[in-house]
Amino acid sequence: MTASAPSTTAPPRRVATGVEGLDDIIDGGFPQGHLYLLEGETGTGKTTIGLQFLLEGARRGERGLFITLSSSRQDIEEVAHSHGWSLASLAVCELLPSLAKLQPEEQDSIFHPAEMELEDQSQAVRDVVVQHQPQRVVIDSLSELRLLATTPFLYRRQLLAWQQFFAERQCTVLLLGEHVTESAPGVRSLAHGVLYLERINPDYGAMRRRLHVMKMRATAFRTGYHDYTIRRGGVVVYPRLVAVEHRRDFALEVFPSGIAQLDALLGGGLDRGTSTLLTGPAGTGKSSIALAFAAAAAQRGEGAVIYSFEEGQHTLLARAAALGIPLQDYIAAGRLRIDHVDPAELLLGEFVQRVRRAVEEEQARVVVFDSVNGLMQALPGEQLLSVQLHELLAFLNYQGVVTLLVLGYVGILGESVQGPINLSYLADTVVLLRYFETAGRIRRAISVVKKRGSAHEQTIREFQVGPERLEVGEPLTVFSGVLTGVPTYTGAEAPLIIPK
Ligand SMILES: Nc1ncnc2c1ncn2[C@@H]1O[C@H](COP(=O)(O)OP(=O)(O)OP(=O)(O)O)[C@@H](O)[C@H]1O
Ligand SMILES: [Mg+2]
Repeated sequence: MTASAPSTTAPPRRVATGVEGLDDIIDGGFPQGHLYLLEGETGTGKTTIGLQFLLEGARRGERGLFITLSSSRQDIEEVAHSHGWSLASLAVCELLPSLAKLQPEEQDSIFHPAEMELEDQSQAVRDVVVQHQPQRVVIDSLSELRLLATTPFLYRRQLLAWQQFFAERQCTVLLLGEHVTESAPGVRSLAHGVLYLERINPDYGAMRRRLHVMKMRATAFRTGYHDYTIRRGGVVVYPRLVAVEHRRDFALEVFPSGIAQLDALLGGGLDRGTSTLLTGPAGTGKSSIALAFAAAAAQRGEGAVIYSFEEGQHTLLARAAALGIPLQDYIAAGRLRIDHVDPAELLLGEFVQRVRRAVEEEQARVVVFDSVNGLMQALPGEQLLSVQLHELLAFLNYQGVVTLLVLGYVGILGESVQGPINLSYLADTVVLLRYFETAGRIRRAISVVKKRGSAHEQTIREFQVGPERLEVGEPLTVFSGVLTGVPTYTGAEAPLIIPK
């Protein structure tokens, strides 16, 4: 056989994990017939995942065996019960180490009692496997076995024996354990794959969970950290988004808002497959402009989703009414959806998944984030936020979505906007809203300060929210102090919406 000859061994069958999102990370499931190590501190969800793995097998008609070396059968049943599962379709075996079994004379024998116990335990495990003939096995947990082994060598030898024993039976095994390597280096190298679960407690905000695949032989797995949650119903994993995997063909065309003057300012509208930052002080109308684009999508029969961090549905409905947008009708028709996001409960990976679904399953063509301040506040100290946000925006761009990011200034006058992320760099278009003053009256101004890849007006236009619609005026050219944040209109004769 030459080196270039195709391999004749069929790829191993994949064993579905039963954990939503996990199969996607490990290329369809665990390769069958091997030992896998599920490592994590206490309370990271190892037992839960173990049960999900066996229940998935049972659903597919495979026999599953749960061997508990530490907790009682009742403890396992309680975990299952908390998730609403019945263990009726599984075999649960309690093999708790018990020194009581050893007779006093045995304790005096030349054998180290713990060593005998290790041998006994290991044999007991093999016996129940032979008895039940399972295709899937969970051993909870390895830590107990390690405690029995007097040396790392004996421990490793037991695991090697298991490896062979289970491989002969084409049985796929999950070994659960905490601090696996501290007590026995080399265990990871024995396993066919290692999943590492961890918990992060930020200085502020809710605890977050994430996992990564440390290794998975013969598998192209997704590297990096993936967020996961444990909720009633089990563990759910949110695979890290890799934008380039989601390229889609779409027409490179301009998406108008339908408000003629606004579209003129933008050089026709916003381009599909680009993101736009709407920024300015509080009350300048950022959300209204975003809403206008979402409504434009709904009006022409396309889908739009607004992720609202601050405002509830009725604030948005009131705003829409003031702008003459029949938001309620669009919502009723299923073309526009308002997704209220609670920042306190936000898990970035889960949020990214929600956005992905909106685009891939609901065909949302306009997506609004109102506001990015809300998103940033929800994830304080999240160093990866900028990277993940970049990935999310790239994904939306590849999907041909018109993305609008609302970013509020700190003050009313818009002196500065300080954030951990330079969003004007991330966005393709930046629309700046300002207050300006003329003849003792506060007005609003809108200008486009950047538009990647196409032309736009360099002017400032007046702009007014309500009472009946969103109105953009004619270009205004005579300003002073535009960059101070509070420009003054010095034109004598003005094409203002409400003349001086
Ligand atoms: N019904 C539920 N809803 C939400 N979260 C739950 C539910 N049941 C369990 N949890 C979470 O799962 C965690 C425990 O999961 P599990 O018992 O699978 O962890 P473990 O890694 O096996 O822990 P240990 O090391 O103690 O065996 C709990 O800390 C709890 O936060
Ligand atoms: Mg457990």
